[in-house]
Amino acid sequence: MPRTLSHFGLRPLLFVLLLLAALNLCGTSHAAENTEPKQGILLAAFGTSVPEAQPAFTAVDAEFKKAFPGAPVVWAYTSQIIRKKLAEQGRPVGGISDGLAQLAKDGVKVVRVQSLHVLAGEEFTALERAVLLDVSKNPGRFEAVFMGRPLLESKADAKELLAVIEADTKSARGKNSALVLMGHGQSHGRADLAFEGVCAVFKAGDKNIHMATVEGARNFDDMLKNLKAARIKHVVVAPLMMVAGDHARNDLAGDEDDSWANQLKAAGIKVDAHLKGLGETPGAAAILVRHAKESTDDLTKEPKKP
Ligand code: CO
Repeated sequence: MPRTLSHFGLRPLLFVLLLLAALNLCGTSHAAENTEPKQGILLAAFGTSVPEAQPAFTAVDAEFKKAFPGAPVVWAYTSQIIRKKLAEQGRPVGGISDGLAQLAKDGVKVVRVQSLHVLAGEEFTALERAVLLDVSKNPGRFEAVFMGRPLLESKADAKELLAVIEADTKSARGKNSALVLMGHGQSHGRADLAFEGVCAVFKAGDKNIHMATVEGARNFDDMLKNLKAARIKHVVVAPLMMVAGDHARNDLAGDEDDSWANQLKAAGIKVDAHLKGLGETPGAAAILVRHAKESTDDLTKEPKKP
């Protein structure tokens, strides 16, 4: 009898000891996790005040929250005009310094700034400068501030985006219809050559894609000539922009006679508008997430030298 008792008495003791050991292990691994510097995301876009453009940003926001669980995701709009407009409407969005201050307040030590620009043009340069200025004004605030490059940085990015756009516009495009993409571009030419590169990759993958810009060197008139020469009878028009905002709704598919859609119709071409920003096109935001994760460009330190 005493033997049986002691036999039963040992087992729970062993169990308790094992349980304590396990708890201790959990405790140490948990503590190790907590010593990792807290990561935060700053999503930087030009901005939009058009409510219909919002779903694109909402989709990008969701993609980043999924990819960086537990990390605060803060937005910054670089356009002062748009920030002012939104503030007047009672739905303010901060600028770069506001966003970085918010992340610091949240206890973030490692920031990943992700550009939502399509190409590295003037706006991306301004973003980089704004981040650098803020970092230099607040030395030591963050351990690292990584800069994620814009959506289209490499040939691989362009191929990936082409597949995303083709999949999304497939049902709207018939067998013989062309896809017309409206890029932004800039009047003084920055990003013109990058845009030419994107055109080349897209054309190589799909000869029925035609592209032009609102402000860049590739203009609508030249594209229209090409469409006429190719005897295109039906096109789907879509913005090659992160959001389907003002340019998509007015310059591309608006009611004015000089909108792309109306000029195409006047030339006898049937037009369907695909008013969807890249941000809300399934698969595109994944490229941005990849750029955010891949970036080793820490703006708080000297550039890495070979
Ligand atoms: Co514009």
